[in-house]
Amino acid sequence: MAIAAPPPLEHVSPLALIAADLRRQRSAEVAYPPGETDFSMARTVRFSNEPLPILLDAYHRHGPVFTLRIFHGLIVFALGPQANHHITVSHASNFIWRESHFRDLTALIGDGLLTTDGEYHRRSRQIMLPAFHREQIAATVETMQQETERALDHIRPGQRLDLYFLTRRLALRIAMRALFGLDPDGGRAQEIDAASLFEQALSFYSTLYPLRMLRGPGTPWSRLISASRRLNRMIYEEIRDRRASGRRGSDVMSLLLDATDEDGAALSDSQIRDEVMTLLFAGHDTTTSTVSFLFHELARNPTVTDRLIAEQDEVLAGRPPTGADLTGTALPHLEMALEETLRMYPPAWIGPRRSIEPFTLCGVDVPGEAYVNYSSWASHHLPDVFPEPDRFLPERFTPEAKAALPKGAYVPFGGGSRTCIGMRFGQLEIRVIASAILSRFRLSLADGFHLTIRQMPTLSPRDGLPVIVHARD
Ligand code: HEM
Repeated sequence: MAIAAPPPLEHVSPLALIAADLRRQRSAEVAYPPGETDFSMARTVRFSNEPLPILLDAYHRHGPVFTLRIFHGLIVFALGPQANHHITVSHASNFIWRESHFRDLTALIGDGLLTTDGEYHRRSRQIMLPAFHREQIAATVETMQQETERALDHIRPGQRLDLYFLTRRLALRIAMRALFGLDPDGGRAQEIDAASLFEQALSFYSTLYPLRMLRGPGTPWSRLISASRRLNRMIYEEIRDRRASGRRGSDVMSLLLDATDEDGAALSDSQIRDEVMTLLFAGHDTTTSTVSFLFHELARNPTVTDRLIAEQDEVLAGRPPTGADLTGTALPHLEMALEETLRMYPPAWIGPRRSIEPFTLCGVDVPGEAYVNYSSWASHHLPDVFPEPDRFLPERFTPEAKAALPKGAYVPFGGGSRTCIGMRFGQLEIRVIASAILSRFRLSLADGFHLTIRQMPTLSPRDGLPVIVHARD
C-alpha cells in the first residue's frame, strides 16, 4: 500500500490559468493593496531581468505591502521583517505554496517538499528530517572534502576559470554522493550530464513571461519537459535497483525507500522521485551561487580576504578543517562573510505563496486567493534595517549585531515550518569549498567582468564567474 498522494494540482493550460486569474482578481472581495496595477509589458520584462530595483522602488512609494501587475496577474509583495515573519511563521497556515505563481515548477520537481502543503508536507518533512540532523550532516564532510579536492586538484596559479561552472558541477556531485548514495563516476549518473539538464530545464524561468505560455516543440516548456524526462529516467532506475538489491545507506534515498506511515504504507516510486528531484533542484544551485557571490565580493574586498586567509592559517595551520571546525565557531570571519553574502545575494530570493483567506498586514488589507510573495533579497536591502545595503560589510553579522536584528529581518533560509531543510548541509558545503579555496589561492575577477544577476528561478551570476587564480603569497 502506498502513502496517500497530495491533492492533485489541476493541470490547466496557460490560457485557462490566465482566465481564472483574471476572474479571481475581478471578483476579489477585498481590494488589492496599492501599487503599479496597470498592464505594462515594460515592467513585466524588467521584472524578469531585474526585479530588485522594481521591488525597492515600489516599497518606497507604497510601503511594505503593495501590488505589481506582472504580465496579466496582480501579485502582492510583502517586504521587511514584519511581513517575512507574518508569512513564514505567525500566519503561515494562511498561505500555500502549491498554487503560487511558481506552480509550474511541479512539472520538473513534482510533488516534493517544496511544492506541497499541509498534512502531506508535514509528513514528508518528518520522514526526511533524520537525514538532515546535525550528526548526519557532519558525517558528510569527508565526501564534500574529497569532491572539493578532486575539483581543485588541477587548478594552477595563472589559470583563468569559471568558478560558477566549476562549483555547479562540484555541488551536483556532492549532492549525488552525500544525499543519494549515487556514484557520479559510475553507471547511469555518468551517462547523463545532470548539471546541463538542470540548466536546460531551468532556463524556462529566464525566458520572458509570454514565451513561458507557449507549448509544443521548440518552446522553453518543451525543453523543460525533455530535461525532466532524462533526469527522471536516472532516478527511477536507481530506485528500482535499490528496491531489487535491498542496498541501503545513511542517505536520503534509503530513508525514503524504507519510510512507512502509521498504517505501514510506503512511498511509491513517483513520490520518491519527486523528493529526490526536489532536493537536487533546491540543493545544488543555491550553494553554487553562494560560493560564486562570496568570491565575487572577496575579490572586490581584499581586506576581508586577508582577514579570512589569516584566520585559515591561524586556526588550521595548514591542516584540512575537521567537521568540528566547519560546524562550530572556529572560523568566525568566514561565517560572517558567508552571512553577509547571503544577505546581499540570497539565492532563493522569493517565497511564492497564495493566500487562503483575506488578511491584514502592516495595516493593509489583502484578498484571499491572491498571489503573495515575501522576498529575502528585497527585505535584505531595506536601508532602515541594513544601512548602506549595497556595501559588503561582514561585521553586520558579529554575534551581538545579529542578535540585535528584528525578528524576520534576515531570512536567507526562509522560516517557520518551511525553513530550508538543507540549511546545515548547504552551509557546511559552502564552508568546505570556501575554506579549500582560501587555503590554496587568491582569486581576482577576470578583466572587464561586471556582475549581472539572473533568476532561474534562484539567483546566479548571469555570465558565470570568470576569475584568475593567483598563488596565495
Ligand atoms: C545556500 C544554500 C541554500 C539556501 C540559501 C536555501 C534557501 C531556501 C529557502 C529560502 C527556502 C524556503 C523557500 C520558501 O519559503 O518558499 C528553502 C527551502 C528548501 N530548501 Fe533550501 N536553500 C539552500 C540549500 C539547500 C540544500 C543544500 C538543500 C537540499 C539538500 C535544500 C533543500 C530545500 C528544500 C527541500 C526546501 C523546501 C522545504 C519545505 O518547504 O519544507 N536547500 N531553501
